[in-house]
Amino acid sequence: MDFGETSDLWWKTAVVYCLDVQTFMDWNDDGIGDFQGLTERIDYLAGLGVTCLWLMPFYPTTDRDDGYDITDYYGVDARLGHHGDFVELVRTARDRGMRVIVDLVVNHTSDQHPWFLDARSSKDSAYRDFYVWRSDPPPDTSDKVVFPDAEDSIWEYDERTGEYFLHSFYREQPDLDITNPRVRDEIAKVLGFWLELGVAGFRVDAVPSLLDVAGAEPALGEDLDPHDYLRSLRAFLGRRRGDAMLLGEVNLPYEDQVAFFGEGDGDQLTMIFDFMAMQKMYLSLARRDARPLADTLLQRPPLPVHSQWGVFARNHDELTLDKLTDEERHEVFAAFGPEESMQLFGRGIRRRVPPMMEGDPRRIRLVYSLMFSLPGTPVLFFGEEIGMGENLDLEGRMAVRSPMQWSEQENGGFSGAPPDQLKRPPTAGAYGPEHVNVAAQRPDPDSLLSFMRSLVRAYRESPELGWAELHLLEQPHVEVLAHECRWDDRRLLLVHNLGPEPRRVSLQIEGGDGIDLVDVLGEAPCTLDADGTVHVELDGYGFRWLRLSPVGTKRIW
Ligand code: NOJ
Ligand code: CA
Repeated sequence: MDFGETSDLWWKTAVVYCLDVQTFMDWNDDGIGDFQGLTERIDYLAGLGVTCLWLMPFYPTTDRDDGYDITDYYGVDARLGHHGDFVELVRTARDRGMRVIVDLVVNHTSDQHPWFLDARSSKDSAYRDFYVWRSDPPPDTSDKVVFPDAEDSIWEYDERTGEYFLHSFYREQPDLDITNPRVRDEIAKVLGFWLELGVAGFRVDAVPSLLDVAGAEPALGEDLDPHDYLRSLRAFLGRRRGDAMLLGEVNLPYEDQVAFFGEGDGDQLTMIFDFMAMQKMYLSLARRDARPLADTLLQRPPLPVHSQWGVFARNHDELTLDKLTDEERHEVFAAFGPEESMQLFGRGIRRRVPPMMEGDPRRIRLVYSLMFSLPGTPVLFFGEEIGMGENLDLEGRMAVRSPMQWSEQENGGFSGAPPDQLKRPPTAGAYGPEHVNVAAQRPDPDSLLSFMRSLVRAYRESPELGWAELHLLEQPHVEVLAHECRWDDRRLLLVHNLGPEPRRVSLQIEGGDGIDLVDVLGEAPCTLDADGTVHVELDGYGFRWLRLSPVGTKRIW
């Protein structure tokens, strides 16, 4: 470890919180969340212990894909504020020790982006080669579409110029062609711009599609190794701001994902979401059997030392189960999204965690304890900390994007606008704002919010969770996951019971007889035999975080 590495590589132990400005807090009561509202709520996020905000797209958009269809990479959607408001947010966050990263959506633009409008005006357009065109009719690509409810091909015919353009997502999202050096320069400029405004990095949307240049003719005769491109993007970022990071969306099996971290210390994406562990976690929870998750964690490839896994339980899209077998997926559907209205595209679930866990506080806390205990950096989706539910009346993936619930007041305290003016209504019923909101949970020591605060604090006080590799401990109970994270001279033992029955778990600890046990989450003490066996009592769905410190060393909480 080089001097300063542990704090310079801040993403190794960050707590990331993803939110959409338009559904977080509406300060001028027009029904749409805004930068001013978010800035007013920065102290709430600081109180939770968040160290990095990830802002979903807030740029001018035609709103075909909830902001992931951008018409101006340099703008702020006027409904949310302007650049001054953005800078105030970044500055306020920094004052509270929080970094801000923003979504970088450059696999595609909106079809209303000036580049595409120009590109489709004529085959001779100076922007024609910014996109990927073909003149001959495309083959059947229905198996490649991402949104099968809306598309049956990734090619769309353009009447005016008589050619087809590539769109990996909706047809209103034409793919940019990164083999064109002019496109790459434009992308770099976009990064440079937001870095100057103080962002600490980017969540990079749809990285495999961005790098997939198969459909593209190398522009200007240039061959491009897509990973070289990612490498150069990271190098550019590093030159402009040394500690900036790229958090990539790469939903691929581990063996394919690893190329996106790069070589040496890690010279491409800094951090990648662990979609595999997420999916297997739900399989394990559904089966009440820790083995699918444990086996998957053992298959994680070793990471370059500066790289990291982004660990999450829920994000803003459908909870994808696309890496499970059909049978496994149906098991998870049966357990957590049995009705068709709860499923999406036949591959995912459009529910949040608490309803999936039938509102059982033990199971909800188990999910988050597990998530925070897996080696990596936890990434929360707004509202998870208070146990918000989904609104199945909202279309498709929007079910989990209903507004933040601040209080029991009208519109959940999100906005003072008449309810019919809201960007999106809050959910109703058992998870509605009258039952689930920040104001009620803040003073309550037994609330989910208070629990999440302690979990975040425990994670921050345990840098081994960010730096260590996982070691599984042998024990006989299939429903129990027992693992140790060891880094430097620090050791943390984590034990989770995925089943409803209490369990007494005996674990053989290396160097056990010379160790002090400290219960990090403050539950009952455990016993340690003279031969180094720890006996951990777990309730049904119970969990324990135990710090192992050599006897006589300085106490770390
Ligand atoms: C992945 C994002 O997570 C999703 O919300 C979006 O629709 C697609 N990329 C297209 O940008
Ligand atoms: Ca507003």
